[in-house]
Amino acid sequence: MRVLGIETSCDETAAAVVEGGVRLLSDAVAGQEDLHAPYGGVVPEVAGRAHEATVVPVIERALRGAGIGLDGIDGIAVTNRPGLVGSLLVGVQAAKSLSLATGLPLVGVNHVLAHAHANLLSGVRLRFPLVALVVSGGHTNLYLCRSPLEEDLLGATVDDAAGEAFDKVAALLDLGFPGGPAVDRLAREGDRAAVRFPRTRGARGTLDFSFSGLKTAVLYHLRGQDARPGRGRNRPGARPADVAASFQEALVDSLVGITLEGARRHRVAQIVLGGGVACNGRLRERMAQEGARAGLEVVLPPPRLCTDNGAMVAALGTHLLRAGLRDGLDLEVFPRLLRNPSVKKERRRKGAGVGRTEAEVGGKEAEVGR
Ligand code: KG4
Ligand code: ZN
Repeated sequence: MRVLGIETSCDETAAAVVEGGVRLLSDAVAGQEDLHAPYGGVVPEVAGRAHEATVVPVIERALRGAGIGLDGIDGIAVTNRPGLVGSLLVGVQAAKSLSLATGLPLVGVNHVLAHAHANLLSGVRLRFPLVALVVSGGHTNLYLCRSPLEEDLLGATVDDAAGEAFDKVAALLDLGFPGGPAVDRLAREGDRAAVRFPRTRGARGTLDFSFSGLKTAVLYHLRGQDARPGRGRNRPGARPADVAASFQEALVDSLVGITLEGARRHRVAQIVLGGGVACNGRLRERMAQEGARAGLEVVLPPPRLCTDNGAMVAALGTHLLRAGLRDGLDLEVFPRLLRNPSVKKERRRKGAGVGRTEAEVGGKEAEVGR
C-alpha cells in the first residue's frame, strides 16, 4: 500500500509517499522560516497564503520523487488536527480535491500522534507497548502506545510546550526565530551549571510537564532579578551561552525524568521520541544515556523526521486506512486537541467514536470547536 501524506498544520508545506507504512519513497518540504522571521514568530495569515502557493508543487515533487503518478497511490492521508485553521484548511482542501478527482480513500490524521509514528520509518523495530514523548512547538505529550493505533495520553504540558519555551528563551537572548536550534547551538559553548534554574513539572503524582516557570526564571535572571541574587551558583551576568546551556539542562532534566518515570510505571522496554525538539542534541544525548542505564531502548528518529513532514502523516495514515478508517469530503479541521475524557464519553454516546481507535478519534484528547 502506497500512501501520499500531506502536512500543512503550521509553517511547513510537506508531502511524502510511504510504502507499506514503513518505507519512505519520497519526502518534499517547503519551509516558510524566511517569511516569518521578521515577525519573530509564525503569522497565521502569512502561513496560510504561503501554503496555498506551495501545496500543489510540493505534492508534485513528492510524486516525482517517488517516481509515480497519482495512479500509483492507494490512499491519501492529511493532517486535519491540531494546527492553524487557515493552514490546515489548505492541506485538507488539496487532499479532498485529489480524493474527489481520483476516487482514492482519504483519512484525516492527528499531527501530534503522527510525530510519534515518524519512528515507524526509522528502520528500528518498534516493540509495543512503548512510551512516546512528542515535543514540538505546540505540544509536549507523553503517550503509552499499545500498538500503532492504540494509545493513552499519560501526561502533557499544563502551560508552555517545550519548543515554545525554547523559542521564547531564544527571543529573550536575541537569537532570532525559530529559536530552538539557535539555543541548542549556543548551549554547546556554555556552562550547564552556571545558573541553577528551577526544575518545574505539573501536579505531584502526574506525568504532566510545566515550563512557564522556567521561562520566567530565565527572564528574571536576565533582568538581574533572581529570587536569591548572587547566592549559590547563580552568578549575575552569566554569559548568554551559560544561560542557554543552564536553561536547556533544566528543561531536558524535566523531559527525561518524567519520560523515564512513565516508562517505569508502565513497564515498557522502549521509549520513542518525536517532534522538532527531539532534534535537540542534549535531549538526545541524555535520553539515550539515562534510558540505557534504566535498561530501556531509546529510539531517536533522524532529525529530518523530527520536524514537520508528510512522511509521518503517511505512516500513521497507512495504519488508519488499513484498519478500514475513511473520511469523506466533509472532513473538518480542528485547531486544538483537548484533554477532556468527558468529551470522549460524550462522543462515544453519540456513536461518533464507535468502532474507531483512539488514534482516530484523538483518544483522551477530543477535538474542541464542534
Ligand atoms: O514539530 P515541529 O517542527 O513543529 C510543530 O509541530 O510545532 O517543532 C518545532 C519546534 C520549534 O519550537 C523549534 O524551536 C523546536 O521545535 N526545535 C528545537 C530544535 N529544533 C527545532 N528545539 C530545541 N533544539 C533543537 N535543536
Ligand atoms: Zn509538529
